[in-house]
Amino acid sequence: MNFKGKDVISIDDFSKSEIIHVLKTAERLEKKAMPNILKGKILGTLFFEPSTRTRLSFESSMKQLGGNTIGFADAHATSVSKGETLHDTIKMIEHYSDAIVIRHPLDGAARLAAEAASVPVINAGDGKNQHPTQTLLDLFTIKKAQGKISNLHVGIVGDLKYGRTVHSLTKALSHFHCKLSFVAPPALRMPVQIIRELEEKNIVYSEHERTEDIISDVDILYCTRIQRERFPDPREYERVKNSYILDVPLLKNVKKNLKILHPLPRVNEVTTAVDRTPYAYYFQQASHGIPVRKAILALVLGGLR
Ligand code: CP
Repeated sequence: MNFKGKDVISIDDFSKSEIIHVLKTAERLEKKAMPNILKGKILGTLFFEPSTRTRLSFESSMKQLGGNTIGFADAHATSVSKGETLHDTIKMIEHYSDAIVIRHPLDGAARLAAEAASVPVINAGDGKNQHPTQTLLDLFTIKKAQGKISNLHVGIVGDLKYGRTVHSLTKALSHFHCKLSFVAPPALRMPVQIIRELEEKNIVYSEHERTEDIISDVDILYCTRIQRERFPDPREYERVKNSYILDVPLLKNVKKNLKILHPLPRVNEVTTAVDRTPYAYYFQQASHGIPVRKAILALVLGGLR
């Protein structure tokens, strides 16, 4: 399998065997440091939206593999603030770096960047659309937590309309014969297009409004933040912002093997008391950003095959 030069824009661009290859490469890189495989390579990190985990784990991964990074975390400090287009920005950065990681508030911006760029582009989140590298680390985490990805019952809770992580994750899990249960307020249900895709693939799924309806039966509970920044009307956000708050009493009758995941950052949807239960797994999940993003960089930059 050769990923050299490949863009990472949508999880739909990856077959099941390609997903598994990335996860196996991440396992390899966890076992063996390989500090020189990207020596001399430069990664451009263009963050038009805030980030802690994605940007810093990409930068750390690149440096741990012997490469270097350039980029920005605040587009206001770049010529974008003078009116430069995304296309023109990319046409510059492609000469300064060997690959580009981009996060942008608009759906489709990463695809546009990939079409403009002569170097591989990695989507670090585009609007409410997708966050494919988060999904790869989520799958890596599920495998670590449960010993497998297939044939699990996965509950996905929160903002399923605007949450890009859950869009990519749902699509990816459809390769693995998982049963999916979605929990959201009526205004924040999973987009109909994604539900249709599940139906076309005969994936078993159900939709609920209460976490209590599913919590005693799931192996993975994937909680998400209500995405305040995506709401066109702040009053609508106020109505739903406290819809789901996972606290210890809710965990009374759960399966022993349950693991709670969250892409983070959290606001109030998982209390800090849950952190001290054996079910909390979201900080380990965030730590997997390093092996998985190392794997993605090593593969698209040709350091590994
Ligand atoms: N999970 C995630 O994308 O986190 P950041 O917004 O901090 O990058």
